[in-house]
Amino acid sequence: ATTLGASAAQTNRYFGAAVAAGRLGDATYAGILDREFTMITPENEMKWDATEPSQGSFRYTSADQIVAHAQAHGQRMRGHALVWHAQQPGWAQNMSGSALRNAMVNHITQVATHYRGKIYAWDVVNEAFADGGSGGRRDSNLQRTGNDWIEVAFRTARAADPGAKLCYNDYNTDGVNAKSTGIYNMVADFKNRGVPIDCVGFQSHLTNGPPGDYQANLQRFANLGVDVQITELDIAGSAQATGYTTVTRACLAVTRCTGITVWGIRDTDSWRTGENPLLFDGSGNKKAAYTAVLNALNVG
Ligand code: G3I
Repeated sequence: ATTLGASAAQTNRYFGAAVAAGRLGDATYAGILDREFTMITPENEMKWDATEPSQGSFRYTSADQIVAHAQAHGQRMRGHALVWHAQQPGWAQNMSGSALRNAMVNHITQVATHYRGKIYAWDVVNEAFADGGSGGRRDSNLQRTGNDWIEVAFRTARAADPGAKLCYNDYNTDGVNAKSTGIYNMVADFKNRGVPIDCVGFQSHLTNGPPGDYQANLQRFANLGVDVQITELDIAGSAQATGYTTVTRACLAVTRCTGITVWGIRDTDSWRTGENPLLFDGSGNKKAAYTAVLNALNVG
């Protein structure tokens, strides 16, 4: 097939992009989005600071705009993210204890209910594990409400939108390391105890390419009985195109890897300013990295 989305669909996978509502009016941007991509993740518009700027007062305008675009163009949605230590509204940043826990539960219930039936998968919890060798949780106001905050978040999301797949999403988890193993142990525990979790997202913000055990790491999570997805892919460096090939092949080699999302469309849309880590240049031309992905999808 001749587009990313149609090529991924040959193996029942999706190919997605992170989208900013403010760019949908750019005809070049929207043209590439609707030609190539079959899944959309809002880059910022569904985060806590965007959706609940003051406590109990919800604002969905920008996120709704993205969902409406997706529905009009036959694209599915990944919701991102119900709870995260970053991009919390100021009022939540200053909360703690049961007040914060109750605010978290209410936030998840309200947002997941607003979008019930419209979301393929939710990043329910984002980036809750610490960097480095501890394998433990990241310190945050949410973590200080009690270690059970993650399972409470998943149970709350399931109750609000039983049809959405519920995912845990993180970065620097691309190989088998202390951080990914901490998450692996949590997912195994959740599956054992019946805590609802359906998928794990691997952000994959990379330079040159993934570690050699990338596919093996995806596979060990899949073996726990969850889907896996590449959720925020971007690759800087001189080996960029090769890196994209390796990542794409790894997903295709793991039956439960259901799709790949790149974190933006053109290099000029990327959060990694000056690193040019995406598949299209600033003018919207296809890069070598694009061709690498397309060819890899068509071999699968
Ligand atoms: O909306 C305001 C705008 O009104 C203001 O004029 C401007 C001035 O700085 O800031 C705008 O907000 C920025 C927002 O992006 C929208 O552009 C924030 O400052 C900026 O912090 C925010 O950055 C986002 C970042 O998450 C925040 O942590 C990036 O766009 C977004 O790509 C990035 O995405 C994260 C994922 O959610 C989670 N994984 C890592 C990934 C990359 O950091």
